[in-house]
Amino acid sequence: MTNVAETLHSVLDPAGAHAQQIVSLWDLTIWICAAMYFLVVAFTVGLLLKRRAPSGPSDRALKQGLIVWTLAVVAGRAVLGVASVRTDGALAAPFGDAPLHLRVTGHQWWWDVEYIGGGDLPGVRTANEIRLPIDTPVRISLASSDVIHSFWVPSLHGKRDLIPDRPGEIRLEPRRIGVFRGQCAEFCGLQHALMGLTVIVSSRAAFDAWYERQAAPAREPTSAHARAGRQAFMDAGCATCHTIAGTAASGRVAPDLTHIASRRTLGAGTLPNLRGQLSAWIADPQHIKPGNRMPAIDLDAPSLQAIVAYLESLQ
Ligand code: CUA
Repeated sequence: MTNVAETLHSVLDPAGAHAQQIVSLWDLTIWICAAMYFLVVAFTVGLLLKRRAPSGPSDRALKQGLIVWTLAVVAGRAVLGVASVRTDGALAAPFGDAPLHLRVTGHQWWWDVEYIGGGDLPGVRTANEIRLPIDTPVRISLASSDVIHSFWVPSLHGKRDLIPDRPGEIRLEPRRIGVFRGQCAEFCGLQHALMGLTVIVSSRAAFDAWYERQAAPAREPTSAHARAGRQAFMDAGCATCHTIAGTAASGRVAPDLTHIASRRTLGAGTLPNLRGQLSAWIADPQHIKPGNRMPAIDLDAPSLQAIVAYLESLQ
């Protein structure tokens, strides 16, 4: 469940409708370019034979070969040009009202993920992890709070930049259940490489169950230890930056922690979400991801352990 390495991210193994279109264009390009390459080789071999043996191909044959080659290049380029424009158009085409609408905001260096509710659907906020139901079109509005980032989940779609003050949009339609890795694909500062993202595609029923849990406020801690952790969390100032729905913590500048224990990773795909890693992260986030916006807070060991126990209870 927490193994970061098991996630898939391959441009050539599409798991979404748009990635499939990109791969089809890629395949066509490879085949046409390979055919041209072999034509060049054949023509070169023909010329060499002509030079070496008087009985090689005649001038007439070579001339015909050159005409065929020129026509093949023009035809190949034309096919690639048309296919490229068509793929571009298909990727940009809206597919009507998507049943699911998200807003993803890039920050140095993490992803704020909001499911925009409406009607009977409550909104949900999480971070660095997107869950989607299979075979459902989803519209994702993209924004950035600081510098240019780029949203890239290779198995589902191509790259799309997140540009400050210029809202963008991407549409996905996952076609396979699985866990897919995403990555910021635009250099955005010191920890650009550690700005990862996980997309989990599941059945509709599993997604609905997850959504219902995410929409609920944080669980009330059941042990005294975790309750002490909640108090320590508030006292240490964590609540200034983080939100835990149902508590006084309502900061918006850092990841929402309402259901942090349900997520696979910490620090935007940097660490698996395990107790030791969570403790290490809180104790010294600058050691793990230098330059990130989370300060190291001076906590005594019992307070640190209590906070970890509390966060681990936030399923
Ligand atoms: Cu964000 Cu690179």
